[in-house]
Amino acid sequence: MGKVKKILVTGGAGFIGSNFINYILSKRDDYFIVNLDKLTYAGNLENLKPVEGKNNYNFIKGDITNNELVDYLFRRFEIKFVVNFAAESHVDRSILGSEIFYRTNVIGTTVLLEASRRYHVEKFLQVSTDEVYGSLGPTGLFTEQTSLSPNSPYSSSKAAADMAALAFHHTYGLPVVITRCSNNYGPLQFPEKLIPLMIINALNNKKLPVYGDGLNVRDWIYVVDHNKAVELVLENGKVGEVYNVGASREMKNIEIVKLILKKLGKGEELIEFVKDRPGHDRRYAIDSSKIQNELGWKPEFNFENAISDTIDWYLQNKNWWERIISGEYQNYYNEQYAHRFNKN
Ligand code: NAD
Ligand code: TYD
Repeated sequence: MGKVKKILVTGGAGFIGSNFINYILSKRDDYFIVNLDKLTYAGNLENLKPVEGKNNYNFIKGDITNNELVDYLFRRFEIKFVVNFAAESHVDRSILGSEIFYRTNVIGTTVLLEASRRYHVEKFLQVSTDEVYGSLGPTGLFTEQTSLSPNSPYSSSKAAADMAALAFHHTYGLPVVITRCSNNYGPLQFPEKLIPLMIINALNNKKLPVYGDGLNVRDWIYVVDHNKAVELVLENGKVGEVYNVGASREMKNIEIVKLILKKLGKGEELIEFVKDRPGHDRRYAIDSSKIQNELGWKPEFNFENAISDTIDWYLQNKNWWERIISGEYQNYYNEQYAHRFNKN
């Protein structure tokens, strides 16, 4: 076994972070992980059952904006690597209120960057998003050279965090790397996002709220493919570099919704076109040739199989999402969707 890597993973109780920790600790015993998560509405310790009790895993409930706590954790655990997943992650929520997005996504990231500088970390991986590039027309792809042009409070907060991370590299030589990934799907995704929301509404015979004309395009990637890219960039990524991550699987929203209905044996009369999201980005599509050519990453999961497995996971894990939608989620759903359904 090589030298143990002491890694602070933030936001590890959320969708992508918990998939990352479960995946990485199932295959590596040279990683020691401290998971710092505030357990917001999106954080769920149930997601981490597979790693509970492992001696190379520690959970700390806390906020990445808390300087003293972050400093203590770097010192106490001799942290040398950071993977920053922690964020407010949902565009529609950022439209309802942006403050927490800038607080967590921008200030939180700078708190982690400052601590990383003080404790001389060997690598700081900022988990970013293709949404920082803005919106595409019908053709073209985002490359790492595409200028940043974020359109939502969420994406602007992520772009600000990316800029801060790159500035710390430029100014202090902090060994920063950034991944910018497209839309993820898979088990454990909170049902505010398109795919799990549509699966759960369909299972409950509730209307499926498709924004606008349903022709907005997203480029979908299975969460494990994303996390393999994160692992590779953490190990081999060149400092100061940005790596786009995507699986070249563009889909119109309406196509995804119809696919879900078909797989669940439900009729298309459940679809309702509702009021559009303000400032709704039309199309995202990623060129991931850099990470493919330079680091040898490639997506391994076939979309048809992985989306089908994801739908099966929600069918088999009703307890997981029923607990979520029976709580605070109802208030969010009513606030977010009541006005949309009453568009006329
Ligand atoms: P998520 O909302 O499911 O999880 C976010 C996690 O961060 C939660 O566990 C939450 O409790 C935690 N958190 C929030 N604020 C915190 C704070 N102040 N301190 C500590 N923990 C805090 O999000 P996700 O979909 O898993 O996304 C993870 C990361 O990946 C985010 O940075 C997001 O911008 C990025 N990303 C997501 C996607 C996607 O499709 N979901 C695509 C590309 C990039
Ligand atoms: P989402 O999962 O929120 O991801 P993002 O906006 O970050 O890409 O939404 C994916 C797409 O689905 C986006 O174009 C908005 C659309 N959408 C709906 O049509 N209805 C919904 O209820 C939701 C949540 C999203």
